[in-house]
Amino acid sequence: MIIVIIGAQWGDEGKGKVVDLLADRFDIVARYQGGHNAGHSVYVGDRAFVLRLLPSGIIHADKTCVLGNGMVIDPKAFFEEVDQMTAQGIDINPDRLKVSARAHLIMPYHQALDHTSEERLGNEKIGTTLRGIGPAYEDKAGRRGIRVSDALSAETLRMRIERNLEEANRIIVLYGQQPLRADEIYNEIAPLIERLRPFVCETSHFLSEARKAKKKILLEGAQATLLDVDHGTYPYVTSSNPTAGGASVGAGIPPHHITGVLGIVRTYATRVGEGPFPTEMIDAEEEMADLIRQRGNEYGSVTRRPRRCGWFDAVATRYAAELNGFDSIALTKLDVLDALKEIKVCTGYEVEGKRIETFPAVSHDLSIIKPVYETLAGWESDTVGVTEFGRLPQKAKDYVRFLSDQVGVEIGLISTGPERDQTIILRDSVMEGWFLDPIAPAVAES
Ligand code: GDP
Ligand code: IMO
Ligand code: MG
Repeated sequence: MIIVIIGAQWGDEGKGKVVDLLADRFDIVARYQGGHNAGHSVYVGDRAFVLRLLPSGIIHADKTCVLGNGMVIDPKAFFEEVDQMTAQGIDINPDRLKVSARAHLIMPYHQALDHTSEERLGNEKIGTTLRGIGPAYEDKAGRRGIRVSDALSAETLRMRIERNLEEANRIIVLYGQQPLRADEIYNEIAPLIERLRPFVCETSHFLSEARKAKKKILLEGAQATLLDVDHGTYPYVTSSNPTAGGASVGAGIPPHHITGVLGIVRTYATRVGEGPFPTEMIDAEEEMADLIRQRGNEYGSVTRRPRRCGWFDAVATRYAAELNGFDSIALTKLDVLDALKEIKVCTGYEVEGKRIETFPAVSHDLSIIKPVYETLAGWESDTVGVTEFGRLPQKAKDYVRFLSDQVGVEIGLISTGPERDQTIILRDSVMEGWFLDPIAPAVAES
């Protein structure tokens, strides 16, 4: 069994919580794209973890975790996180953590280039995480990147750094920054690569053998559908493919071996960084945005940047369901809306007086579209920690059903708080097929 978990919106939907919750039912948790631009928060009792590069399954001592070939890995960030996790009592060793020999490395000059690129764009900047993600993927596509396997040879590592830095420094100097020095970079990176060596693995083969041995594999998407470089709100996207197809490429798993796709959908939307966001709460709705930000703790897990907040966008989420082929949805953060008297849901867009139901390709269109809303009554009562659908207030049930109908996908799980046990697991045939657990009555039966 191989299941992919994917963010349906612009990221931070609560993928970390859901992966941590479901990890128990799997043997292996693997990441397939992105790098330490991700921030996945997991709360277990009074312990808080923020996973950036490592799969959220790492918290479970008996799970094996994989960093797939589609990722870009900053060795410094990798070991900072390994050390941080170790200090938090998590045992990390090469037996349970495998890093793809084919993953690409993020080098210090990638970070410098991320800065200069944002500076050059000025008002049109992407608002990246400045981790060097984009420039590392540019080098990969430009066929000059440094793969983990290349770096295992000291000579190749040194040569590639020298060659790539020559070009990078031209741009860095153009922006008035000090050029970086190849020997300094090499001296910093080489010992980290030595430390990385035992973790390096042919991960695609490893996953293939695991599948044959009937191991259950969970593929943990980072970022989200609308940040996908092909399908997202380009150019305001990340440089990888978080969508379901990317899971096959980025983990090296044949597409037909993937059993199912679970979409992580928040009951409202947020976005970090720049770019179109049709349902953003702005102007007269700024107070509402503040309320949601406070209640939902909507600040970057790593960068602490305040997240832009907006209403649920059914057009965008339908698009995500279609692109990824969601079999089921995990709906997160229901409790955050407890205080609202009324809740708006965008069910269509209007462009120059015409109603459209599909998500337009041109990012420019998104800034001229007018969301068409339906307003639902809020439930104005506490749902924090509710674990049974039947115990939700009627209006909360109505809201959940409305979202499911709008997106056209069954909801298999509802999250009512950041903790593992603050979750309603519903009987929906898809999830049941995957997990074979005794679970609560389905939405339709409650
Ligand atoms: P990810 O990037 O998709 O893993 O999401 P983040 O971890 O960046 O952001 C989601 C935040 O919401 C985290 O702080 C989670 O602990 C928190 N969270 C997840 N599910 C729920 C929920 O149902 N209710 C509340 N109140 N918080 C949640
Ligand atoms: P998780 O996995 C939210 C956004 C950045 C920026 C754009 C490009 O926690 O959901 P990048 O550094 O990737 O080149 O930045 O993508 N971004 C995220 N937004 N959640 C994330 O990850 C993100 N990772 C990148 O804010 O707008
Ligand atoms: Mg996040």
